[in-house]
Amino acid sequence: MYDFKPDPSLDPAERYRQLRDAADALTSTELDGVANMANVAALIWEFLPDLNWAGFYRMGQNARGESELVLGPFVGRPACIRIPLGVGVCGTAAQSKTTQLVEDVHAFPGHIACDSASRSELVVPVIREGKVVAVIDLDSPEPARFTGADADGLEALAQMLADRI
Ligand code: SME
Repeated sequence: MYDFKPDPSLDPAERYRQLRDAADALTSTELDGVANMANVAALIWEFLPDLNWAGFYRMGQNARGESELVLGPFVGRPACIRIPLGVGVCGTAAQSKTTQLVEDVHAFPGHIACDSASRSELVVPVIREGKVVAVIDLDSPEPARFTGADADGLEALAQMLADRI
């Protein structure tokens, strides 16, 4: 049994450091990327408060052989399965290879509402050898839930996972 119990009083940087350590411990010896994404989604859910969705979209292909994001392991309500590059918050992060920190999802052009409870969102690309292989997506029902500290912490987690998923 894995029992990770983050202290609720931790500041965000320390919380993300402990999350990364736990994710490192769970993924360092496992070669199956889907298993690793599933455990990391569960860890994010345990460590970070005020989320209503946490998980991965993987880089895949559509029927025409074009790259697009495909739903991966997550915690939360069922979500849209395929997202074209450049569309929504996830597709924008994947196409631009940059973190998207969205304080108000209703103000983001093309935002895809998978859960109507979502108010703010943070999406970080996972980049391996210069290519986006996945994105990590966090949604919150709280407006402006995510800060630069969340972006920094999630980017460090994405970097650690790049060759494990
Ligand atoms: N809101 C995302 C879609 C994925 S769900 O939030 C799980 C977007 O605009 O890309």
